[in-house]
Amino acid sequence: MSETIVITPDSSASEKLADTPYQRLGGEEGVRKLVDHFYDLMELEPRFADLRAMHPTHSDQTRDKLYLFLSGWLGGPDLYSARFGHPRLRMRHFPYAIGTKERDDWMACMVQTLNDVVLDPALRRKLHEAFAGTADWMRNKAESDNMPAGNVVHA
Ligand code: HEM
Repeated sequence: MSETIVITPDSSASEKLADTPYQRLGGEEGVRKLVDHFYDLMELEPRFADLRAMHPTHSDQTRDKLYLFLSGWLGGPDLYSARFGHPRLRMRHFPYAIGTKERDDWMACMVQTLNDVVLDPALRRKLHEAFAGTADWMRNKAESDNMPAGNVVHA
């Protein structure tokens, strides 16, 4: 008896693109909205005062850089690299002492942003996980033995 081979059509490139977090968020407009909400909260909410104080400027440039970075990070156009080269995100954060508190403050601001802006619960969960991993990776301050291996420690 001959075997039946079922060929499932591969999804087209455009379908794959449409499934990126970037597209699911609503493309450029959605990513801009997320970034603006994040920095609005950071600037306005008293509980983010410490986080706000770490930021040297509160300019449109700061918002723009996060927007350009997230565009590529979420699967859309890699705008940050086109303008500034490789992100080297961890290295670019070395001037700021980031420990557990700073990571948690940043995440709290992002989690509130996701809750306010992202309506799809599955997408919200996925973004939460991705941001949490990246924020944890950004820690560079010696605190205790909870640093991930290979972290550069700044006194
Ligand atoms: C873990 C806690 C974090 C803290 C405390 C923190 C803090 C900062 C500060 C103080 C700046 C400088 C902003 C300015 O020049 O006004 C910055 C820049 C930036 N941050 Fe973070 N950040 C954190 C995590 C993250 C994460 C998780 C991402 C991305 C998912 C991110 C993306 C960026 C980008 C793209 C820039 C601009 C870099 C440049 O080109 O200069 N940050 N961050």
